[in-house]
Formats: sequence, structure tokens, C-alpha cells
Amino acid sequence: MSVTIRPIEAKDKEEWLNLWTGPGGYIEFYKAQSAITPEISDTTFARFLDPTVPMYSAVAVDDSTGKVIGFANYLAHLNTWTVEDTMYLNDLFVSADNRLHGVGRKLIEHVYAETDKLGCKKCYWMTQFENHRAQLLYTKVGVKGGFLAYFRPGDI
Ligand SMILES: CC(C)(COP(=O)(O)OP(=O)(O)OC[C@H]1O[C@@H](n2cnc3c(N)ncnc32)[C@H](O)[C@@H]1OP(=O)(O)O)[C@@H](O)C(=O)NCCC(=O)NCCS
Repeated sequence: MSVTIRPIEAKDKEEWLNLWTGPGGYIEFYKAQSAITPEISDTTFARFLDPTVPMYSAVAVDDSTGKVIGFANYLAHLNTWTVEDTMYLNDLFVSADNRLHGVGRKLIEHVYAETDKLGCKKCYWMTQFENHRAQLLYTKVGVKGGFLAYFRPGDI
């Protein structure tokens, strides 16, 4: 399958929102529908387009249909261990019908390229222990860090 990975644009909002909070989308995958209000989605999308905010999104577009079939949302942040920023891959999603065609891998490779382009020193992300499908990809494109994530009680 032929796919183009490119930075998100204003015209992508409807299709991105559909993959984000629509049926079978990313937020449903995390059973987080009650947490993600329209205000959050609108604010997040606006931040992608705001050149003063170091939060970004890349979309995967199916070349044969022109449809957005996946996205990677990522952001750069300060790090006490480096002078340069660190890139955090916040969200990765490929629509169910388009999985296992290398789209997830392409999106991660795009984020790696952006990491270098934006002068970040490192790139990292998290996944759930039980997300074995994602880990089948991650073990090929990344290295397991060995850290556990903890949250303030009530924050997860
Ligand atoms: C995780 C996700 C983004 C992967 O997207 P994808 O487009 O299917 O990924 P790819 O096709 O690029 O890569 C899948 C890799 O896993 C491997 N894989 C997947 N299922 C496999 C299986 N059952 N057995 C062996 N390998 C398997 C594939 O061989 C492929 O490796 P390759 O690139 O060497 O061929 C997608 O499944 C998704 O959106 N899932 C729901 C949301 C999610 O979990 N997001 C990540 C949150 S951290």
C-alpha cells in the first residue's frame, strides 16, 4: 500500500477527529471517551497548527484514496539531562482496516526524522503492558527502556 506521511494541516481536522474520538478510534481504544472533551480535542488540534507551541502531528494518507488513515502526535520538552529538548511520541494510531501494512512503522520513522530536524537529543514513548500488538512493532523500531510509569493517585 502506498502511503504518504506529512505534517497535519487545517483541512485534516474532520478526518483526524474521526480517527481520534470517532467510533473505532484512538480514544475509544483507550476507553477514555469520558476524559476527552471537545474542548480538549479542539485545543490539541489548534496546538498542532500553532508555530509557537512545540506540539506536532503527522498524518498518514492513503495515496489511492487521499484519506487520512493514521496519525502520530508528538511534542518536544525540556530535559534536565540534556541541553537539547527531548521528543515524546504522545499518540500513535492506524485505523483498523489499514494495520499490518507498515504504516505505524512509517509514522514512527517520521517522528525520528523530526526529532533530528528539530534538534532534539532523544525520542521516547510509552505503551501499556498488555498492548502486545504495538510492542511487536516497537521491539523492531525501538529499544525497551526498562522504566515503569507512576502517576499521582486519581490521575490515571
Ligand atoms: C500499534 C499500531 C499503531 C501499529 O500500526 P501498524 O500500521 O499495524 O504497524 P506496522 O504494520 O508498521 O507494524 C507492525 C509490525 O508488527 C508486526 N506484527 C504485528 N502483528 C504481528 C503478529 N501477530 N505476529 C508477528 N508480527 C506481527 C508486523 O510484522 C510489523 O513488523 P514489520 O514492520 O517488520 O513488518 C496499530 O496497531 C494501532 O493503531 N493500534 C491501536 C492503537 C495503539 O495501540 N496505538 C499505540 C499506543 S502506544
